[in-house]
Amino acid sequence: MRIGVLTSGGDCPGLNAVIRSVVHRAVVDHGDEVIGFHDGWKGLLEADYRKLDLDAVGGILARGGTILGSSRVQPAHLRDGVERAKGHVAELGLDAIIPIGGEGTLKAATLLSDAGLPIVGVPKTIDNDIASTDVTFGFDTAVGVATDALDRLKTTAESHQRVLIVEVMGRHTGWIALHSGMAAGAHAIVVPERPFDIDELTELVGRRFSAGKKFAIVVVAEGAKPREGSMQFDVGGTDVYGHERFAGVARQLSIELEQRLGKEARPVILGHVQRGGTPTAYDRVLATRFGWHAVEAAHRGEFGMLTALRGTDIVMVPLAEATATLKTVPAERYAEAECVL
Ligand code: F6P
Repeated sequence: MRIGVLTSGGDCPGLNAVIRSVVHRAVVDHGDEVIGFHDGWKGLLEADYRKLDLDAVGGILARGGTILGSSRVQPAHLRDGVERAKGHVAELGLDAIIPIGGEGTLKAATLLSDAGLPIVGVPKTIDNDIASTDVTFGFDTAVGVATDALDRLKTTAESHQRVLIVEVMGRHTGWIALHSGMAAGAHAIVVPERPFDIDELTELVGRRFSAGKKFAIVVVAEGAKPREGSMQFDVGGTDVYGHERFAGVARQLSIELEQRLGKEARPVILGHVQRGGTPTAYDRVLATRFGWHAVEAAHRGEFGMLTALRGTDIVMVPLAEATATLKTVPAERYAEAECVL
């Protein structure tokens, strides 16, 4: 078999573990040939690739990022994108393509699969918002980074008797905010699924100070917004690919809370540090299992499918199902994090 693999969209700790696993299972166990496309779909559209053998994936298991590079380019961005991709797959004699990516990548994978290409997807995102899998690799690492940052921020917040508003990633969902906030014992957690009321938030943080506490930590997901009419808020705009470019919820909240509480407040934006660096053991194992199962699915001819974690098992689910809805934080999960002063 000849397999093409690519990593597309925002990078994520564990991508290299998937690539390594695909090569190990395919080349060593099945005697396949594997090629890796550079910079995501762009590599497939431009036939820009390299051969991946055991040497090529040596020592990458614990490395963050992706040895293949990534981009947000998608076949749908070009008028002849789908035809180009089909042409290159035929020219290169590929029997299977394994794209590793998040929502946008998997939508592109569905498009190409519907156009007849043999695709087996692997989900990834630090946001953990892909509905068809219980967990995506990268999430555990991102939560660990954010939790460590929150632990550190607590000591400086306490020294200066400040309110620190810590912005974590999460465009549409608040999984990183919820988990890191719970793990670090944050005093308020703000998620996109639940537009915040600035009066309620002020009251929650204010109660902590009234109780004699000297500092407060608020975790906010980057995509969180206030309830309609609650406060003046700049939502930002979009980037060249149509993704939201946020105007900075932590910055806006820190100004508002400082004025309302009469306490010094500072925004802290964790940003891409949450996506960088070495993946946790959990993420390496999940990524490795996804890679192994993607190769097996390709050998069974199970195309148009995606690897997914259900409980402790890896199962295959239809690609289209994976992007139909986002996995948002349910109200009961949010309630479990009820902030304790
Ligand atoms: O989807 C993963 C993610 O890390 C989001 O949480 C974040 O909004 C986005 O990617 C940032 O993307 P970029 O690297 O293009 O700024």
